[in-house]
Amino acid sequence: MPELKVSIDQNEQCIPYEGGDISRSLKDILDAEGITLPSDCGGVGKCGLCLVHIEAGECTPLSASEKTTLSGDELNRGCRLACQAKPLGDMSLSILKADNPAAWSELEADGVTGNASASNKLGLAIDLGTTQIRATLWNLDSKVRIDGITSLNPQAKFGADVLTRLAAAKASKLDADQLSLLASSAVGEAARILVSRHGLVTTAIRSISVVANTAMLALLAGKHYENLLEIEQWQKPVDCVPESIYAWQQAWGVATDAQINLVQPLAGFVGSDLLAGVLSTNLTGSEDAALLVDFGTNSEVALWDGQSLWVTSVPGGPAFEGSGLSCGVPMMEGAIYKISGHGADDSLELYVIGGAQAKGVCGSGLVDAIACLLSIKALNPIGRLAEPYAKAGFPLDETSSIRIRNHDIDLFQRAKGATGAAIVYLLEQAGLKQAALKRVCVTGAFGSGLDCRNASQIGLIPDVDSEIIELYSDSALAGCEVLLVSAGGQQRLSSLREKARLINMSLAPEFDMLFVDNLFLKPLPKSGSSTTSMLE
Ligand code: FES
Repeated sequence: MPELKVSIDQNEQCIPYEGGDISRSLKDILDAEGITLPSDCGGVGKCGLCLVHIEAGECTPLSASEKTTLSGDELNRGCRLACQAKPLGDMSLSILKADNPAAWSELEADGVTGNASASNKLGLAIDLGTTQIRATLWNLDSKVRIDGITSLNPQAKFGADVLTRLAAAKASKLDADQLSLLASSAVGEAARILVSRHGLVTTAIRSISVVANTAMLALLAGKHYENLLEIEQWQKPVDCVPESIYAWQQAWGVATDAQINLVQPLAGFVGSDLLAGVLSTNLTGSEDAALLVDFGTNSEVALWDGQSLWVTSVPGGPAFEGSGLSCGVPMMEGAIYKISGHGADDSLELYVIGGAQAKGVCGSGLVDAIACLLSIKALNPIGRLAEPYAKAGFPLDETSSIRIRNHDIDLFQRAKGATGAAIVYLLEQAGLKQAALKRVCVTGAFGSGLDCRNASQIGLIPDVDSEIIELYSDSALAGCEVLLVSAGGQQRLSSLREKARLINMSLAPEFDMLFVDNLFLKPLPKSGSSTTSMLE
């Protein structure tokens, strides 16, 4: 099979392609590998954006549109339009301007960072979230983190939540392949960006660890995703081991002997991201009762009672991630991440990531907004805005362009209701009361920006002493990093798997009642619960 040797930002990838089919342009072949070139003309040779430089090999003669679109200089330098040129055998080419469909932004480091030289072995840790992907590059020799970036999960074009994506994959093999490709391309892109920022190359990457919820792992591996739509399968183990890692090694341009470890989930509804979080927070490190809540589109909860690790997850929707809201944005530059009330005049002070013009509210900002609106009685605990805000929403910013509406609060309540139900149910199963908790670890969508007092007041987290609440920006990624660089990580993970007790909330008879109880914007019930008591 002939190969395209493709250089992007000093990194090289080999792409085998079906020879003898000259209907496929270079762009078609690159697209199929998830390497997208910019295009404004739909691939008819008019925009000139898909420019590539042919280093070696032959392709079809210049098309009429190339002769008019390319400049004399570009023609002399051996440039071609990838949408027009079709390869006629082995070729080497360099991409002059790769498209950047996912905007990657800086991921702040929690600890020490370092660098690496060309002779060092590199590792990549990936937290493949439903909404966001986070990636960090490590020097495996010194076990030091070099850099980290984050971006939105490009699979979102198939739907914001896992169920929509699973349904799309089940309905069409083509869509399933595309979902897998979108995720794997994002990993490859993250690898290329991270190494090139430090003058390194992807071939130095020797190990990659990926943690994710089960749906993300199954979609990436391209197997068993259809099972996840059947409730009775959720409690069973799901094999998400890829059939072959060769294609990824090639597409990502990593070392040919690079290890790619998709950290396997515990079951259909408990992914390796939760296990990684338990690992990095050392939740089971003592006999003290400890709770971990990983808020997200799919929120996951783990409760350690000193002997057993009770685990579950609930699909609450993307409101915690700022998605699906009329005023919502992800936790990125321009997001209102914190809001404080100003007492007597009812005005609010907004804090915006990057200090720039506010674009919308992310999850932690929404928690503060709801708590503030409750305190000034612009919102009631049932979740309805008072007049005059009921119809047009409550304006947050000076220009009144960012408004909290009933619909936004409703979505937040549904996510909170599901997560609260999971917390209360696990406590009941373990025979514990909130007061028994010695640690409450919070991670996920809110990062470390959550105001714990506000979160407790509206019942998002247990109503406990703020001293025992620990905020983690991304415990799943931190756990993934432990698995990447620590020799004992895998053993600790195996031990956690043995202690786990799976609770399938969709089969819990009390779930509906607990869900309704926890919709209300009040502190979580100390023990037991009933709708009546919440309405009092
Ligand atoms: S995509 Fe426009 S010229 Fe190739």
